[in-house]
Amino acid sequence: MADQRLEGIVLAAGKGTRMKSDLPKGLHRVLGVPMVELAARNLMAAGVERPTIVVGHGGDLVIQTLGDRFQYAWQREQLGTGHAAMSAESVLGGHQGPVLVVPGDAPLIDPEFLKRLAQIQRETGAACAMATCVMDDPYGYGRILKDEAGRPMGIVEEKDASPEQKKLKEVCVSVYCFHAPTLFRLLKTLRNDNAQGEYYLTDMVGAIYRDGGTTVCVPVDDVEMLMGVNDRWQLAQAAKVLRTRLLRRHALAGVTILDPDSTHITLDVEIGADTVIHPNSVIEGETKIGAGCSIGPNTILRNALVRDRASVLASVVCDSEVGEGSRVGPFAHLRGGTVLGSEVRVGNYVEMKNVEFGARSSAAHLTYLGDATVGERVNIGAGTITCNYDGFAKHRTTIGEGAFVGSNSTLIAPVSIGPGAVVGAGSVIRHDVPADALGIARAEQSVREGWAARRRAQRGGNQQ
Ligand code: UD1
Ligand code: MG
Repeated sequence: MADQRLEGIVLAAGKGTRMKSDLPKGLHRVLGVPMVELAARNLMAAGVERPTIVVGHGGDLVIQTLGDRFQYAWQREQLGTGHAAMSAESVLGGHQGPVLVVPGDAPLIDPEFLKRLAQIQRETGAACAMATCVMDDPYGYGRILKDEAGRPMGIVEEKDASPEQKKLKEVCVSVYCFHAPTLFRLLKTLRNDNAQGEYYLTDMVGAIYRDGGTTVCVPVDDVEMLMGVNDRWQLAQAAKVLRTRLLRRHALAGVTILDPDSTHITLDVEIGADTVIHPNSVIEGETKIGAGCSIGPNTILRNALVRDRASVLASVVCDSEVGEGSRVGPFAHLRGGTVLGSEVRVGNYVEMKNVEFGARSSAAHLTYLGDATVGERVNIGAGTITCNYDGFAKHRTTIGEGAFVGSNSTLIAPVSIGPGAVVGAGSVIRHDVPADALGIARAEQSVREGWAARRRAQRGGNQQ
């Protein structure tokens, strides 16, 4: 029996000149994911286990960025889409079943459509099931040529088309499902004697016809999914469409999105039900947000884990974790592997880098904690600074459970404040403070009775 496993090819070796970029076109991101990866993910969602990506321009960078979830075929010279498909033979040459082919610059293709295309190819036994579209303005697209019986017998590219052919409105959109052995056999018969001197994948339709095989046209009804990205503006348009779809999906899964227009969420973010996303929120990377949270307004989360019932108001959280029921912001900045326990309070103008901050502890105002381990129920007074950097290396500060650090304290690391200890406000702490002790390091206050009144008298009247 023929191998019915579904394979898939992404054609992504082209240069993408109109992007005007040093980056290969396929690596430009839509909702945080490289465009070529989106195309490959669509194939995966349609049932392809490990898509094959044809790389050329910037291929090394593409492979390095996307990694080994995919397999790669090199097209060293870009001699056309047919030649690109041929390059995939090095990887898929032995495959006896169906193979989907999609362009690398059409990230919105619906996996359900791809599934249907593959199913139609299988059921009809056609050499090719090909997506087509009837366009009012077919300019630039390959036109489908049919025989008297209405069977597809070829495709003519815009640049090769006669005035009569240019009037045809049914076009090729570069999405196909081929019977792989037929594809690789007939690709070898293609020639490049056309206006662009390229090997056209579209010429497969003619080759199949001459071979006595069949191409089945499968019309695409949702034209939006064909949006191609050739320049930065189209990139922005595609991102907009995908963003709306994504926000809708979150909303239907129970997330309140107050202002879809100002909410930017990348593709792989997870959000629990009953979480409210306020306006101007940017949520990126591998961020996970629990249930019942409140995010924003004006919040950036990047690779953040926000546990259930937490709130992050007007703050930035990167590569860090916010514990259950904790409240962050306004104007806080958590970064570099900071982990907040549950029911924590982090308030205005507090920055934390690489800090473990215990449950029910609080740093409510104007504080920098860097490279610190803070136990549970610790109070960090306003203006506390850990001096973690001596100009050469970073050092750790440890603050035990239940300790109280008075306002405007400077803790010079490495240093440790024991559990239950108190640091007097305004102290510069250079030595460890034992458990339950008071650490205080500031000049004694002196009081001079009557001093202010005498000064006023000398100067004659009220100071002001
Ligand atoms: C192609 C079709 C055309 C169709 C149109 C829109 C051909 C000959 N023409 O034209 O009928 O209407 O798409 O879907 O196929 N690529 C390579 N290697 C190459 C050339 C291209 O990998 O040597 C890749 C590109 O990176 C791109 C995809 O193939 O992702 C399509 O190539 P492109 O040059 O955009 O084809 P069109 O001229 O748009
Ligand atoms: Mg194109």
